[in-house]
Amino acid sequence: TPVAILLSGRGSNATALIEAARDPAFPARICLVLSNNPDAPGLDMARRAGLPAQAIDHRSFGKNREAHERAIDAALQAAGAEAVCLAGYMRLLTPYLTTAWAGRMLNIHPSLLPSFPGLHTHERALDAGVRLHGCTVHLVTEGMDEGPILGQAAVPVLPDDTADMLAARVLEQEHRLYPLALRHFLTQNPATAANGAALVVA
Ligand code: GRF
Repeated sequence: TPVAILLSGRGSNATALIEAARDPAFPARICLVLSNNPDAPGLDMARRAGLPAQAIDHRSFGKNREAHERAIDAALQAAGAEAVCLAGYMRLLTPYLTTAWAGRMLNIHPSLLPSFPGLHTHERALDAGVRLHGCTVHLVTEGMDEGPILGQAAVPVLPDDTADMLAARVLEQEHRLYPLALRHFLTQNPATAANGAALVVA
């Protein structure tokens, strides 16, 4: 299945997906890496991996978010994408793109949703005193970090954790979870998917 990746920055989750997709047995082939940020290190990484990589700078569309998303959608279509993975894509999506890709767009979020949607999840997890934290792969819907959960991985919060230490522990699991959840998503039988068979990585 041709899958596109949208990112804004570092691209470590994109790297994990690209590496997983190198295995011929993996059900996704990465057909495009797109960024709203022309300077995203993730774009260079994708180019070095020999993949088509393209920037569509949101700043050239002024305040017109939908025009930016129309350009993204056109690029996704042109690349033949059948599903999209958001991997550190730091722009809120409008209903234009969430509707166009409903049921075919995945996101990874660095918390155990529905706890801590939004930003600064690791600081907030420490402040809340939770003992388990982690990451979630979910389908993208209009509400931010709200769609159906496809998979989660949990990590312990340790007594002397800083936000950076916790973030690193979660990130390691993100890199495991995202390829597994994408594979699960692409290969699950729709007839049994209604059972809510989300993936758990322990
Ligand atoms: C990850 O923590 C991801 O969960 C969040 O943004 C970060 C992106 O990191 N949505 P990277 O660009 O994949 O390295």
